Amino acid sequence: MEKSDWQYENMPDFLQDRSLGNARIEQFTIFEHDFRAIYRDGLKPGKKYVRLMIDGEIFMSDAPMEKESNYNVIDDAFGDILLAGLGIGLILLPMQKKEEVKSITVVEKNPNVIDIVGGQLPLNDKVEIIHADIFDYEPIRRYDCIYLDIWPDICKDNAGDMSNLIDKYSNFLTDKPDSWCKAWQEDYVMGNMYIREGEGAFDYS
Ligand SMILES: C[S@@+](CC[C@H](N)C(=O)[O-])C[C@H]1O[C@@H](n2cnc3c(N)ncnc32)[C@H](O)[C@@H]1O
Repeated sequence: MEKSDWQYENMPDFLQDRSLGNARIEQFTIFEHDFRAIYRDGLKPGKKYVRLMIDGEIFMSDAPMEKESNYNVIDDAFGDILLAGLGIGLILLPMQKKEEVKSITVVEKNPNVIDIVGGQLPLNDKVEIIHADIFDYEPIRRYDCIYLDIWPDICKDNAGDMSNLIDKYSNFLTDKPDSWCKAWQEDYVMGNMYIREGEGAFDYS
């Protein structure tokens, strides 16, 4: 088992291939010659993975890079959580199992994703999925943890939106000392590292 695998489910066990409108869930494998997949994203040839495509673009997968870049979020999750972006539910499944987690409100803007992913995942009664755009959503309560995970890749073009969302949602944190609001890979996005156009994450067959 890989370092970050202990807390994640094996997503191909839950997500079968489905398409609806502009969204598609598909299982995939890579081959020995998929250099970038192996050496950049850490995938293993022959192993089964799952990815979410929206308008033909890969938005999320269960590649090791995604697991590594999210495991601290799962470790730090407690209380009442607001999660922007359902994706494939990679972080949602381990989060809902934590005793320290009371509720998880997921805000997802794509109804097709809610249908083809939400409809297949074994979600427990801590989880509520709301169909809304996180930029317009007006929370009616405060949360202990707020995680903004709506972007398909790490790109400095998203820095403005990310910073605006963090500013907005930081106002909806509880006053517990360990409450937090953060966005996926915010240090990279708001720093100088980014993935160049044409080098999007998982940009291989
Ligand atoms: C990178 S995936 C999220 C990964 C997810 N946290 C997981 O564990 O699998 C991004 C998701 O955010 C959704 N999304 C994109 N823009 C959004 C917005 N403005 N408001 C809410 N959801 C959005 C996409 O439809 C997609 O499902």
